[in-house]
Amino acid sequence: MTTLLVKGGKVIGPAGAIDADVLVDGERIVALSLPGSITTADTIVDATGKYVIPGGVDAHTHMELPFGGTFASDTFETGTRAAAWGGTTTIVDFAVQRTGERVQDGLAAWHAKADGECHVDYAFHQILGGVDEDALKAMDQLVAEEGITSFKLFMAYPGVFYSDDGQILRAMQRARENGAMIMMHAENGPAIDVLVAQALARGETDPIHHGITRPAALEAEATSRAIYLAEVARDTPLYIVHLSASGALARVAEARDNGRNVFAETCPQYLYLTLEDQLGAPGFEGAKWVCSTPLRSKHESHGRDLWRGLRTNDLSVVSTDHCPFCFKDQKELGVGDFSKIPNGIGGVEHRVDLLYQGVVDGQLSLERWVETIATTPARMFGLYPRKGVIAPGSDADIVVYDPNGRTRISVETHHMNMDHSAFEGYEIAGKVETVISRGTVLLEDGVYRGRKGHGQYLRRGLSSYLV
Ligand code: URP
Ligand code: ZN
Ligand code: ZN
Ligand code: ZN
Repeated sequence: MTTLLVKGGKVIGPAGAIDADVLVDGERIVALSLPGSITTADTIVDATGKYVIPGGVDAHTHMELPFGGTFASDTFETGTRAAAWGGTTTIVDFAVQRTGERVQDGLAAWHAKADGECHVDYAFHQILGGVDEDALKAMDQLVAEEGITSFKLFMAYPGVFYSDDGQILRAMQRARENGAMIMMHAENGPAIDVLVAQALARGETDPIHHGITRPAALEAEATSRAIYLAEVARDTPLYIVHLSASGALARVAEARDNGRNVFAETCPQYLYLTLEDQLGAPGFEGAKWVCSTPLRSKHESHGRDLWRGLRTNDLSVVSTDHCPFCFKDQKELGVGDFSKIPNGIGGVEHRVDLLYQGVVDGQLSLERWVETIATTPARMFGLYPRKGVIAPGSDADIVVYDPNGRTRISVETHHMNMDHSAFEGYEIAGKVETVISRGTVLLEDGVYRGRKGHGQYLRRGLSSYLV
């Protein structure tokens, strides 16, 4: 086995920051030692003056997702390469069962897309697009045999991914039995469809109407309904994805204060971008920021409340919901009709940096930064302690982060397969310097040395985050 030593850095974990050297043997971390106490290794990475953090775990990505007559523009190859550049060494993507399709066939298609293509390790959640007797049986099989222990359901997108309340309840009851986590896209789709049709009939076709027709109240309502349905299903664990609005956060906080197994993630776009400034950009420009749940108004308190939720753990995880579409030819499908713009923002490369900005701004502690981007997603989705922590026995997924470096986000420099950036021009105080995945250095001194096929499929266990 070859050894690697990350020396001189400050190792950040949920329990605090410590000065330690990290010794890696082969693919695993074997020791944290007193600074300077180990002097030889096959490879030495100097982390003096830097933070040493576990590789990021992005629990919500959509490589090559079919949506709105096209496909998300990152393949598993390009998307996981961009993730590596940004300090994320594990992604959990969503395998899709389309309505009318067998769950197992949807999963097999996802494995076929990812197999041999990934630069970093990957796992899958399963989207259920048609909850019926077969799909319920498939849930048991995926949990028992495939390492898939979480299922995403949609209260939005009628006719595409939508499940009605009866289907949702049945899937929740099944999850209560087999131990899986239910992930919910919580927006009232049928009500949104009415608002969309009314807006289009009035000639309101610009991208901003995507946000206006998906009001925060319909996210809060669906979040509340999902929480009640989970209660009826004997408190089955529930995880609200891409939470964007204060009202939805209040429902989650209330459930958590009552001791419920209710969790939520938010995404960088909801922390930094707004309905007015991005989605409301002149002409068709705003299409770049069409995603669901939508960006929220800066005249309300959403962004501030989300930062607070990250501090109080009412928001446990930050994921990207990485679902990129190029402006040219893809977003442009919705010229003259916002409802035809494929939904999604790409950001898998920028999550670690954008959340570090929360540390710089005094919104998050260093420990909380690492918890929300790595440790908690690993625990939430059955990857801990293999992923999400720097500890003996864990995979050697390590990022050396330079607090004195700077990162400028731009389409000119990013590695995602997108012809624009949702965060164009953002200046980050901080920089991903070295990225190590299972003991292999992928990125060092600005030179990328990773390769497709290095990333392995991860069979997940049950969540270890429940109360
Ligand atoms: O706009 C989004 N979020 N696109 C991806 C699909 C989803 O709902 O997560
Ligand atoms: Zn969603
Ligand atoms: Zn609380
Ligand atoms: Zn998503």
